Amino acid sequence: MDMLDLEGRSAVVTGGSRGIGLATAIALRVAGADVLICGRSVDALASASSRIRAEPGAMNSTVTTAVVDVRDSEQARRLVQTSVEQFGRLDFLINNAGVGRFAPLAELTTDAWREMVDTNLSGVFYCCRAAIPVMREHGGGWIINVSSLAATHPFSGGSAYCASKAGLNALTESLMQEVRHDGIRVSCISPGSVDTEFAGNAPSSGSGWKLSGADVAQAVVDLLRHPPRSLPSRVEIRPSTPRK
Ligand SMILES: NC(=O)c1ccc[n+]([C@@H]2O[C@H](COP(=O)([O-])OP(=O)(O)OC[C@H]3O[C@@H](n4cnc5c(N)ncnc54)[C@H](OP(=O)(O)O)[C@@H]3O)[C@@H](O)[C@H]2O)c1
Repeated sequence: MDMLDLEGRSAVVTGGSRGIGLATAIALRVAGADVLICGRSVDALASASSRIRAEPGAMNSTVTTAVVDVRDSEQARRLVQTSVEQFGRLDFLINNAGVGRFAPLAELTTDAWREMVDTNLSGVFYCCRAAIPVMREHGGGWIINVSSLAATHPFSGGSAYCASKAGLNALTESLMQEVRHDGIRVSCISPGSVDTEFAGNAPSSGSGWKLSGADVAQAVVDLLRHPPRSLPSRVEIRPSTPRK
């Protein structure tokens, strides 16, 4: 399938209600794709949906939302089903939903460990497993997993987060090898620091040194425009002039 033109393609963005996911949903819609975003908060999804529709330059494609917790395999299956019901297919799955809780391992609660592993790793597994048969049936697709530089640059206080993202990198690479002959490309994008509300961060006015969600979104859309013979499987994106 010709992936250069995103118009008329359909995309699911998990964690599309704010931050990188919202910026990605906007960029996909501006590129002409139909977009289904999910998250756990109805209110956040409603306001994200209005924000996406209001974007100047957006084409006349569809934006829709689904309240989904990716930690639940049945909800992940329904998310993919919703894309098929709304758009007739699923071309792009952007596994972006993720959480970070940072503390020394000796003080990390079991709940915090589970939340990170269940969201950042198992949630991606559930969404990919549900999407692959649908993509195969329609001749291919592209799965992009939003990982982190933390996967390959672990740091003190980040044991569960770094481990969940390292596991995600391994999942991504195995899956890429399993499905590429079915026309399904699988990549991971690993950002450095991004100015979002991630892990309770208060975003700046956009004038700081961090990446913006839109910078990561641009990397997603650039990937999706690669010709069918090309598979950039690992992309790292970092602030060009980080804090010293
Ligand atoms: N910000 C950074 O510096 C940075 C750097 C590298 C990588 N990343 C990765 O980038 C991704 C997006 O992060 P962000 O910075 O945009 O964070 P964010 O602003 O906190 O957004 C996270 C999104 O994920 C959703 N989400 C969380 N848990 C979910 C669940 N169980 N089911 C469905 N949706 C869920 C949130 O909505 P609800 O809470 O309403 O569900 C929200 O839409 C994450 O995977 C993160 O690990 C971030």
